Amino acid sequence: MLSLKQSLLSSFLLTAFFTLPASAADIAAGELKSGSCVGCHGQKGISGNAQWPSLAAQQPAYLVNQLKAFKSGNRSNTMMQAIATNLSNEDMDNLAAYFSSQKPARAISDPTLAKSGEASASMCLGCHGLSAEGKGQLPRLAGQHPGYLEQQLNNFKGGLRKSGPMQAITANLSETDIKALAAYFGAR
Ligand code: HEC
Ligand code: HEC
Repeated sequence: MLSLKQSLLSSFLLTAFFTLPASAADIAAGELKSGSCVGCHGQKGISGNAQWPSLAAQQPAYLVNQLKAFKSGNRSNTMMQAIATNLSNEDMDNLAAYFSSQKPARAISDPTLAKSGEASASMCLGCHGLSAEGKGQLPRLAGQHPGYLEQQLNNFKGGLRKSGPMQAITANLSETDIKALAAYFGAR
């Protein structure tokens, strides 16, 4: 497991950090455009629905990447595909600049469950950041809704959402591990 983790980590880091820097995006234009998002993702990107992700303080490169993935169909979700289809690259950059500049959410987690996820969470921090704040195309997990995190981990595990590193990692996680990790990161 350790060597798998290490080789995943190093091969991933080689590709992930040679990505383009964030372009000169326009936060004000993003805020204007965000009117069509807040009905689901919440005011200032803090979602009130436990199954729908908060976007506040999410990494801008990750947000753009996911919007492109919904648009191309690489990440499948009927609601988001319909929305992303109508966004230009410029809209995506501006929306990402706006949401990433908002204050992070803090989710409500079961404290006992969250505590039980702490030990295994260390294997996630090499990629997701020591405070789970994310970096570049690696998403922030801290403060995200546990219900949403759990669903995405199950999507990776079941192959519904494609990502080399996450599919390999979730293959080794049990249902109990997934619930504990989701509670742990939501409470961070
Ligand atoms: C009708 C509800 C709805 C609206 C409106 C909506 N979204 Fe979403 N969005 C969702 C749902 C549900 C998901 C989770 C999809 C999944 O399960 O993969 C999501 C996921 C996302 C993600 C991926 C987040 C992550 O952590 O991976 C991004 C980015 C996103 N939406 C951006 C936007 C933007 C920008 C807008 C406005 C232009 C918007 N959404 C409007 C429902 C919505
Ligand atoms: C080798 C690097 C790496 C490691 C280690 C890693 N991840 Fe990830 N993770 C990623 C990448 C890359 C993505 C983005 C995938 C994509 O673009 O769809 C991601 C996405 C996610 C998402 C989706 C977030 C969202 O907003 O939709 C969750 C949840 C997640 N990881 C949880 C974890 C957990 C829990 C662990 C530890 C058990 C972990 N990750 C370990 C690289 C990693």
